[in-house]
Amino acid sequence: MVQDDSGAAFGFLSVTHSDDGLSPNILRTDISVAPSHRRQGIGTALLARAAGIAKEMGRPRLSSFHYDTVPAGAAFADAFGATPELDFHNNVLKIADLDRDLMQSWVDQGPDRAPGYSVTLVDGAYPEELLEGIAHLFFILERDMPHPDNWEPREWTGELVKQMTEHYLGAAESLTAVAVHDETSAPAGMSQLIKRQSEPTTWYVSTTMVDPKHRGHALGKWVKGAVNLEALEKWPGGQWQETGNAFTNEAMLGINHAMGFRHEYTMSDVEFDVDLVLAQTGG
Ligand SMILES: CC(C)(COP(=O)(O)OP(=O)(O)OC[C@H]1O[C@@H](n2cnc3c(N)ncnc32)[C@H](O)[C@@H]1OP(=O)(O)O)[C@@H](O)C(=O)NCCC(=O)NCCS
Repeated sequence: MVQDDSGAAFGFLSVTHSDDGLSPNILRTDISVAPSHRRQGIGTALLARAAGIAKEMGRPRLSSFHYDTVPAGAAFADAFGATPELDFHNNVLKIADLDRDLMQSWVDQGPDRAPGYSVTLVDGAYPEELLEGIAHLFFILERDMPHPDNWEPREWTGELVKQMTEHYLGAAESLTAVAVHDETSAPAGMSQLIKRQSEPTTWYVSTTMVDPKHRGHALGKWVKGAVNLEALEKWPGGQWQETGNAFTNEAMLGINHAMGFRHEYTMSDVEFDVDLVLAQTGG
């Protein structure tokens, strides 16, 4: 935090990294400067600081992000030679506009379009018997979804899923519809909604995916419909549903479009080369 003499904050820097083996060469950084204090070199000083920390930690790249709603972010990233990575299109849907009949029809069609599968609803933590299967879905998702060339996916295990879930359930509620392949009892797809305690009227679509081995049976619609009906029932008072659409595929985009999601803003991930930033900022 950068503050003036009166204690008012006008600059912010945070650095984070995952301790579960995800992207060990990257330090993630969030930099912002209040509009009243921009173009005075404060952003540069914060970026130099982040690069110094990354250097000390032996991480050669800094990842950050900017929004299309604040063009200064892209200009700043360009000024330091950052390379564009993925764009995340944030889409929103007013829950009052959610078509309950459409959701019900996706659930009703499920057994006909996907014989040999069933859908089970999970409120909160995954039961033990699903943990390894959910880990397998995440393993596939991190390799299958659009990702930058230098993406370093995790080795998912049931234990990691359990720990991660316990962590976010400390501050949020979750509902998940899991499609199960009856013959093998293996999870074949899922759709999860998260409601954070800090923002109880917004539902975040955290993960919706179908294992490529099980695609083509409208399982995506079935799990989407099921989790939305469950949320309408269990989470009254919801106003907005939000989804980020880089981690998804054309089929998922089609489903979200049919549900009435509309584009709100785009978040662009960028990567800075730590040595280049240090050379440019004299650090
Ligand atoms: C991006 C941000 C942190 C820049 O902070 P800042 O203190 O204004 O940055 P600096 O003064 O150090 O600018 C460094 C260089 O970036 C470029 N730059 C920054 N803002 C710019 C703008 N609005 N238009 C064109 N170039 C810009 C310029 O090259 C500038 O050097 P110059 O002023 O000598 O021309 C600030 O605009 C912000 O908080 N934006 C919203 C959050 C964000 O997008 N952060 C993401 C960073 S990847």
